[in-house]
Amino acid sequence: MLAAEALAGLALEAGGYYVDATFGRGGHTALILQALGREGRLLALDRDPQAIAAGRRRFADEMRLALEHASFADLATLVPAHAHGRPCRGVLFDLGVSSPQLDDPQRGFSFRADGPLDMRMDPTLGEPVSAWLARASVDEIRQVISTFGEERFARRVAQAIVVARRARALQSTAQLAAVVAGAVRSREPGKHPATRTFQALRMFINDELGQLERGLAAAVEVLAPGGRLAVITFHSLEDRTVKRFMQRESQGHSALRGPAVLPAKAQPRLKLIGRKTRAGEAELARNPRARSALLRVAQRLP
Ligand SMILES: C[S@@+](CC[C@H](N)C(=O)[O-])C[C@H]1O[C@@H](n2cnc3c(N)ncnc32)[C@H](O)[C@@H]1O
Repeated sequence: MLAAEALAGLALEAGGYYVDATFGRGGHTALILQALGREGRLLALDRDPQAIAAGRRRFADEMRLALEHASFADLATLVPAHAHGRPCRGVLFDLGVSSPQLDDPQRGFSFRADGPLDMRMDPTLGEPVSAWLARASVDEIRQVISTFGEERFARRVAQAIVVARRARALQSTAQLAAVVAGAVRSREPGKHPATRTFQALRMFINDELGQLERGLAAAVEVLAPGGRLAVITFHSLEDRTVKRFMQRESQGHSALRGPAVLPAKAQPRLKLIGRKTRAGEAELARNPRARSALLRVAQRLP
């Protein structure tokens, strides 16, 4: 999604070393590899072991690619370990969940097909949503649904969940979707009433905003001067995080601004490149999910 614009934002050099921080099904990775020459190298990460397993099969013969089951929050250690001293010329983030994750009911991301109430991108870590919902208080559930889902009726949903779990543990996506639909109506035409609740629980159980903060900070650390940072978001909370991060890093430390010569720590580390970009008409026609996608690009300063 926004693939051509994101690749243009990376300003790919044929012999450069790049990072695809969110491999997914490998769409961006394939495009980057097409643009790289024999000397170019790409490190691709995903915290989902299934994504990496599928990627190893798809790119089995691709010697320029290193695939790692890892979180992008750990970029600061992963890149030096893989780069063998090569300067990192670009890092791409394409946030959110992938189509294979959404389409597999066993992953528990979707209310459209029944499956276990899990929602972890990395099922080898942490706990499924069902385990958290079994013990969280009304107030904890309300806060998560209100913060990450921006659900106006978060308290009503949280109370309905706690009442429902007294009768029967919430183990499946269909159970949760029915509980939410019984408590609230959707304000947005065509949207299932559980859309906001599912999104909120997914963002919470995967600590998506915390991961994003750490991933962006690590990307700026590993980028070589002149290197590009390109980030595609799908959600206003994600975009706000990226926008604030890029603004902060492109302005330097405001508390320290003023003196003619800024101390090294206060110098801006990023320069914004262009304005935020949305998906074009053709892409929207192909993929309506792209309507909320936004791309922001910045360049690492020396
Ligand atoms: C929208 S998909 C990426 C699609 C990909 N660009 C493509 O072309 O196929 C997002 C992917 O990022 C992964 N992901 C999300 N958070 C992550 C994190 N903190 N670290 C590593 N991967 C993450 C998800 O597991 C998912 O596979």
